[in-house]
Amino acid sequence: MALRKNKITKDTKIPRHIAIIMDGNGRWAQKRLMPRSFGHKMGMERMIGLMEHAFDLGVEYITVYALSTENLKRPKEELEGLFNLFRNHFKEYMARVCDRGVRLRALGDVSLLPEDVQKILRQSEKDTSAFVGKGINVAVAYGARDEIVHAVNKAVETGEKVTEESFSRLLYTGEVPDPDLIIRTGKEVRLSNFLLYQAAYAELYFSDKMFPEFSDKELDKAIVEFSRRTRRFGKTDEQIEQKE
Ligand code: FPP
Repeated sequence: MALRKNKITKDTKIPRHIAIIMDGNGRWAQKRLMPRSFGHKMGMERMIGLMEHAFDLGVEYITVYALSTENLKRPKEELEGLFNLFRNHFKEYMARVCDRGVRLRALGDVSLLPEDVQKILRQSEKDTSAFVGKGINVAVAYGARDEIVHAVNKAVETGEKVTEESFSRLLYTGEVPDPDLIIRTGKEVRLSNFLLYQAAYAELYFSDKMFPEFSDKELDKAIVEFSRRTRRFGKTDEQIEQKE
């Protein structure tokens, strides 16, 4: 019985868009007396597995918080380790997921990254740009406040009055629908400058697991929890029932 509780069934509502704050890679590695960069590599591998699993379940968009603008202030050695992951593994790992017809987008101020890493991201975007329907968004050199300020400046440049919808299209996420479920691993309970505008009606799920140990079953658990919640978008239960 306890097992069934977290099992995905045909009645489970699958979120269209899941966003993930992959926290805890460093702590996971340090606990095993391994360098933090090893934790990031394991985290990246776990993320690919999770993406495959999520797309199999019918999820359409996955957004990953891979590197925040604040993370760019980390020690040089750790940052180089992260950039090396992009240099050595990103293309090969992402191909595993994108070859199923998934479009990759990089969100953030990519110009803050080393040039060769920028090229890798731009090339992956280009290679997958014809794919429609499913998407992976990799937030790198990303900060939600920076994203909002960037969008405001774009709006000011055009001189046109914005609506909620038109403003939303000026964000790095562009046409991508808002996340339905935001998951954060690693025991912290905050959004840390991630998708602040887009998260307005997202369901939030926090896991004590460090990211490398956030298994496919843990993702199922988060989705089952999401499916149990009633999303009212500010309306009453009765209004929601009538619509259904
Ligand atoms: C948080 O762990 C993770 C990061 C700062 C970087 C994670 C990015 C990658 C592994 C590369 C990108 C991956 C994909 C799939 C594109 P932390 O170091 O803050 O952990 P801690 O809280 O335990 O210190």
